Amino acid sequence: MKIYAAKDYNDLSRKAANIISAQILLKPNAVLGLATGSTPVGAYKQLIKWHEQGDLDFSRILSVNLDEYKGLSGEHDQSYRYFMNHNLFDHVNIHKENTNVPGGLSEDPEAECRRYDQVIKDLGGIDLQLLGIGGNGHIGFNEPCEVFEKGTHVVTLTEETRQSNARFFQSIDEVPTHALTMGIGSIMGAKKILLLASGAGKAQAVYDSCFGPVTPHVPASVLQLHSDVVVIADQDALALVKEKAGLFVESWEGMIYDN
Ligand code: GLP
Repeated sequence: MKIYAAKDYNDLSRKAANIISAQILLKPNAVLGLATGSTPVGAYKQLIKWHEQGDLDFSRILSVNLDEYKGLSGEHDQSYRYFMNHNLFDHVNIHKENTNVPGGLSEDPEAECRRYDQVIKDLGGIDLQLLGIGGNGHIGFNEPCEVFEKGTHVVTLTEETRQSNARFFQSIDEVPTHALTMGIGSIMGAKKILLLASGAGKAQAVYDSCFGPVTPHVPASVLQLHSDVVVIADQDALALVKEKAGLFVESWEGMIYDN
């Protein structure tokens, strides 16, 4: 795991966009595992800018998103399909038919989960998986629990997650109680993983995930077992790493950890 300290959110976003764009340049038909949430929005904006300048071509890119709220259609403005269209897909030359998000309205969610696993398999796995992180250490919507779930599955969202995502809805009552999420096995199957964390609310999760025990109670801690993970975090998200991890670094900017 490599950890990069970003100066601030803009720096984090540019660093992340650089890594994603390098992946696209190295493999123009790469399979990108994409994430929602506020954290990757800055990176998506930067990618759009480079695309508009003619520097980045998405025409052969394939994508699989991590998750979707159960019960929301792709037209609902809080669905993750809508988020991806508005924050990235509508602004670059990716072919929509090459983009995948779990179906939130499927009448048979279990069958939809199996279908989604097959989609990932048929694509040949994920080249680069982008991740945000929940305040409780969740990745995708893999909430803290007793086991690491391997494949795509339906989850009951924790109260904490619903509360923190309520800011995007009119009220907490409108936040769905369930979601479909890619499993830890699929995420860990990605060739490369890029995790982004911004803000003080992520400090505990970042510290526990990078330096705590590997446990499904902190889902992102499993990333310690992956051979190619890059974490980019801003100064606030690194607060506990600075305080407790015992890293002796010359500067809290750039790479601060590599093991
Ligand atoms: C949601 C998403 C996650 C995301 C998390 C953090 O729960 N399912 O993929 O990482 O929110 O979101 P934010 O980046 O807005 O803090």
